[in-house]
Order: sequence, then C-alpha cells, then structure tokens
Amino acid sequence: MKIAVLPGDGIGPEIVAQAAKVMEALRKDGLPIELEYAHIGGAGYDAAGDPLPDATLKLAKESDAVLLGAVGGYQYDNLPRPQRPEQGLLRIRKGLGLFANLRPAMVYPELVNASSLKPELVSGLDIMILRELTGDIYFGQPRGIRTLENGERQGFDTMHYSESEIRRVAHVGFQSAMKRGKKLCSVDKANVLDTSMFWREIVTEVAKEYPQIELSHMYVDNAAMQLVRAPKQFDVILTGNIFGDILSDEASMLTGSIGMLPSASLDANNKGLYEPCHGSAPDIAGKDIANPLATILSVAMMMRYTFARVDVAQRIETSVRKVLQQGLRTGDIYEAGMQKIGCAAMGDAVVESL
Ligand code: IPM
Ligand code: MG
Repeated sequence: MKIAVLPGDGIGPEIVAQAAKVMEALRKDGLPIELEYAHIGGAGYDAAGDPLPDATLKLAKESDAVLLGAVGGYQYDNLPRPQRPEQGLLRIRKGLGLFANLRPAMVYPELVNASSLKPELVSGLDIMILRELTGDIYFGQPRGIRTLENGERQGFDTMHYSESEIRRVAHVGFQSAMKRGKKLCSVDKANVLDTSMFWREIVTEVAKEYPQIELSHMYVDNAAMQLVRAPKQFDVILTGNIFGDILSDEASMLTGSIGMLPSASLDANNKGLYEPCHGSAPDIAGKDIANPLATILSVAMMMRYTFARVDVAQRIETSVRKVLQQGLRTGDIYEAGMQKIGCAAMGDAVVESL
C-alpha cells in the first residue's frame, strides 16, 4: 500500500498528521502501509515555484493511492492563475485521470442537531454525489479573455462532454447505486444546454445495462431546491463537473458538519486520490482546532475503494463513531454537554478507539 501524502496548505498539514497517526497504527497492526510525502498547492509553489511540482505528480503516479489535505491560502490569492494553489488540484486530477469523484453526504445520529435543516428532514440521510471530475467547462477549450471587434472585452469558457466521458462515469454511478439503494438521479440542465441534452441521452442508454436501477433525471436548479426540501429522496446523484461542484457543497451542509465529510476521486482502475471535502481554512490554520475526522474518514474510503479492504474501512469508521459516542467534539461540531477537544487530541482519540 504505497500512499503518497500531500498535506498542502492551511489546516492541511495538521489534519493529515492525524490521518497519518491512524495509518501508522494500522501499519503496526500488519497492514503494508508505506507513506511518502510531497508538496502541492501553495506549499508546492513555495518549495518549487509550481502548485504541482513534477516530483509530486511523479510520486502520485507511482503510488497506489494519494491522501491530500487541502490547498489554498491568502498569501497566494494574487498570484497569476497558473501558479495558484487550485491549479495544483485540477492538474493532479487531470494528470491521474481521476474522473469519478465520490462525495458522500451522511448524517451521523450523534450530530443530527448540527444541520441547518430540521432533524426530521436529515436524520438518517445517506446520499452519494458522484461528480464527473476531469471534463466539462472546467477543462473545455477554448477559454480566456478576448477583445471583440467592437473593442469590448469578453470572458469565455467552453462546456463540452464527449460520449466516452459520460459513459464511463455513468457506469460508476450505476454500479455504486447497485451497492446502495438502487436509485440513480442524473442531474443536468437539458432544458437549456446541448451538452446536458447529450448527457441525458447517453445516461439513458447506459441505464439499459442496469435494469435493476431506478433512473430519474432532474434539472440542476430543481435538484438544488430538492436537496434542501427533501434530501432523503436521493440515493446516488450523478452529475457533471460544475454542477457537482456546487451541489456537493450544498449537500455537505445538510449534514451540518463539512468537517466530517471525506471524498474519493477514482480512475478507471480504482487508483484514487482521497481528501476531505472541506478546504484549507487558513483562518484557523496552526491553532490545533481543525476537525481531522474528514481526513481520517478519507483513509477509510481509500481502504474501501483502492485497497478493497472493507474490513479496515469499517474499523476506521467504527472508531470515529465511538469517539463521537464518547462525546468528544472539535469546535465545528461542538454542542453543549459535549467535551471540546483539539485536532491532535481528536486524532489520538481515534487511534485509541481503533
Ligand atoms: C472542490 C473545489 C475545487 C473545485 C477548487 C478548489 C478548484 O471547490 O474540490 O470542490 O472547484 O473542484
Ligand atoms: Mg467545490
């Protein structure tokens, strides 16, 4: 289990350090885990003038899986776009061919009051957003800022999806629905966009290979509304890159605790990059108050998807549940009556529980 570890920026290093403690404990228990560290994001820019240094991409390619903290920080906000931390993330996704991004949003019974929605709307919520991650308007060419003939400047991007891009992510969607509630909702904007019309056509075609799955289609504006109206109607949501970016943030907040949500970005062979859904939170970096559980749960996803060790994944997830049951909370999920602890103490508690 050769794992590239890319702590990144902001709270990245401190949360990844907790996940590393967990992996170290698993290694002592006999799992053949090997960790190797490299820079990404602002840390890559500081170390090598590039948010994705060549050495980092090389290490990631040679590894079985990648664990990433987060990227971004105020000090990089005014860099030209190619040097900005986010580019490191976009390039590693593209460079490793990580087209399938799984973003689960589930509500832990212990944290049901943390949601901004009424407990009855979210209690028991367990949805999986599958976001296509290497196509769409994020990567479409041409793009840029140009001057029109009348002298006015114009910004432009290109949205497109090829048939093979839609097909492969649709298969991942149907297969993950098979392992869950057997419902797939494909989200698009087919009433306006040709790209979406085509997306819907191909998803409908792929569906014929999965007669057990109940397929529905929904416009993205309606999906945004349904997510806050009746989120439990969803099982797997399949969508493109930009809609998935937006809906997954919305869905994460249903759980009230973005600090709890892991994610997996997979290629065609289940090689994956695993990272918390949240960002680098520069305002709280270095204060030992960040929640490391999303990163620790990302290790669980890694065990499940890349290494096919469901047993180890469940062991990590159970340990996290136990820690919550003990009443231990970082600040972001704290409520009266619980015991507030820091990032490192939370990592220690999970290792203890493991
Ligand atoms: C995400 C983030 C990234 C994205 C940014 C940081 C480039 O918002 O992972 O959702 O837009 O994909
Ligand atoms: Mg996002």
